[in-house]
Order: sequence, then structure tokens, then C-alpha cells
Amino acid sequence: MEQEQKKRVFSAVQPTGSLTIGNYIGAIKNFIAMQDEYDCIYAVADLHSITVDIKPEILRKNVTDVTALFLAAGIDPEKSVFFVQSHVHEHAELTWILNCYTQFGEAKRMTQFKDKSKKAPENVNVGLFDYPSLMAADILLYQTDCVPVGKDQMQHVELARTIAERFNNRNGQTFRVPEGVLPKLGAKVQSLSNPSAKMSKSDVDPNSSILILDKPEDIVRKFRRAVTDSDSEIRYDPTNKPGVSNLLTIYSAFTGKDVKDCEKEFCGKDYAYLKAQVAEATAEGLRSTRENFERLSKQKDYLFSVMKTGAEKASYIARRTMSKVWRKLGFVRP
Ligand code: TYM
Repeated sequence: MEQEQKKRVFSAVQPTGSLTIGNYIGAIKNFIAMQDEYDCIYAVADLHSITVDIKPEILRKNVTDVTALFLAAGIDPEKSVFFVQSHVHEHAELTWILNCYTQFGEAKRMTQFKDKSKKAPENVNVGLFDYPSLMAADILLYQTDCVPVGKDQMQHVELARTIAERFNNRNGQTFRVPEGVLPKLGAKVQSLSNPSAKMSKSDVDPNSSILILDKPEDIVRKFRRAVTDSDSEIRYDPTNKPGVSNLLTIYSAFTGKDVKDCEKEFCGKDYAYLKAQVAEATAEGLRSTRENFERLSKQKDYLFSVMKTGAEKASYIARRTMSKVWRKLGFVRP
């Protein structure tokens, strides 16, 4: 009974590249925190990942690694549904339908489509353009209330809301209209080499990001090189001091301390000290995930069994939504 009253959460992560502390602070940390209070469904968005060029052996490895990483970080498959997107065929089916409820102009306005098209002009494929419809299908299939994401995905969640409302208006109540949920702090963790840009798993500069699985010595080295600014005051001011503010955000996320208290803690200290402390807090904050990953990533049978059980549970919910959709639209289902 209590289970039915819980709000539904859905979110996903793409298995492209190695996950960064941007993914962790902006999304995964929230996923873990929401498990007790909400009815959570989390996915590895493998269908999304072929919108960019990715080799089959890399995709194969990444899907298993991201599964191990989610479990290592604290996603509990007993509490939450955890599955791989392509294992539930309704995602692809609903995408087609939602394509017909998404305006060309809406998809064209998506910032991420414009950025990714610029980055890889040789591969501006229709899937990249259509990516928000697939993301809307992911969310709407599960009658989702809340979608925890980082800031860069908020525009896609907004579009999913628009699509849901449009579909409901034309065909009667079918989908719950979801809301995006940003973390209180760290909705956009910035690159360490260029604090005006987002930290991204696809960045070619290895020093720009801290990976969740980085060794402590690499974490220390990367933070030591992080770009700050020319004065020496440690203050949280994202507009004028983006590099220092980013370091304070990361420190706050891994220590659980309020960012204002962090500012006070570093009052009168220099940047080298700040960087060393942030590195230590980050390495410590990621230690158990790293250790659990070492163990779990070798247990392939266990990982596959988690994927399989998760896909069965997800399919059950997805099927119910799809049968409503087919019926409302007039498709004949003998
Ligand atoms: P992806 O894989 O790029 O990122 C996964 C999550 O991490 C967040 N994130 C960040 N947050 C803060 N700072 C950063 N530097 C940072 N970088 C990434 C993202 O906002 C995201 O929440 N299309 C999605 C995956 C997806 C999805 C969905 C998400 C597929 N279907 C349905 C929500 C609902 C993506 O590529 O995220």
C-alpha cells in the first residue's frame, strides 16, 4: 500500500566514456539519496549512446561497467528497479510515436543537439536530432513524477513535459507530466581546465575531469593543475571566481558541509591548500565506490542477473503504458 503512494522517479545515464564526478554530484548522488523515499527506476541509456560514434566493444564494456558502477555507488537493486534501456523494447516503440508529437522546431532548438552537431559535423545523424524523443519515451513510459538530472539535461526534461501535455490534450490523459529535479548544489560541475565549461565525460583533455574511478594519486594531480584565478581569495562567487567556486562546490558535495561553511573553513588559506583538501575529500568520498567496483565488475553473472530482473520489472510497467498508448491512438491489437 505504502509502495503505491510513493512518487515515481526515473533517470538514466549514458554509457559513453567513463563517468565523472559531474555525473556523480549532479545525478548519481541524488539517485542514491532518493531510493528510500521514492519508487525509483534507473537505467543505462545504451540506445542514446549510439547517437555518437562508439565502437561495439567499447559499448559492450561500458554497459557492464556502468552497471557495476551504479551498484558500487549505492544503487540497491532490491529497493530500485535498475535496467538497461535496450532490454525493454517499449522504449524504441514509444519513441516512434512521440516523434509524431514533437515539432521539428522544438528538437532543433535543443542546446545539446546544437553543441554536439558542432563538435562532430561529420556525423549529425537523425538519431542525434531525435534524442529528446527517446529521452521523453524513457520518462513517460514509467508514469514518472520526478526526474533527477544535472542542469544540462533540464531542457530535455522540459521538452518531455511539453510532449506529454500535447499527447494528453489530443488523446486524453495518458502520461503523467514529469518534473525535473536539480541537486541543491552541483547541478553543473565545471571542467577543471576550463571553469566556464561543463565537466564532461567526452572531453578529450584528461585533466579536465575527475573520473569516479580515478586513483587517489590521479585525483591529487588533476586538482593540483585545476585552473583558478590570479587573486588569492577563497570565496564562493560562480560569476567572478568560477574555478574556485567549482572547487568549493565539489568540496561541499563530498563533505556534506554547507558551501558557506566551506568558505569560512578556507578563509585566509591559499589555493594550494584548498586544492589539496578538495582532492583528499574527493578521493575519500569515492573510496568505497572504487573498492566496490573492483569487486563487482568481476562478477559478470551477478551483473547480468541484476540487468535481467530489472528489465522484467521495467517491462511490466512499460507494457501497461504502451497498451494504453496503442489503444488511444486507434492501433488494432488483436
Ligand atoms: P549523461 O549520461 O550525459 O549524464 C548523466 C547525468 O549526469 C548529469 N551530468 C552532470 N551534472 C552536473 N555537472 C556535470 N558536469 C554533469 N555532467 C553530466 C546529467 O545532467 C545527467 O543527469 N540523455 C541523458 C541520459 C538519459 C536520461 C533519460 C536522463 C537518457 N534518458 C531520461 C533522464 C531521464 C544523458 O545523456 O545524460
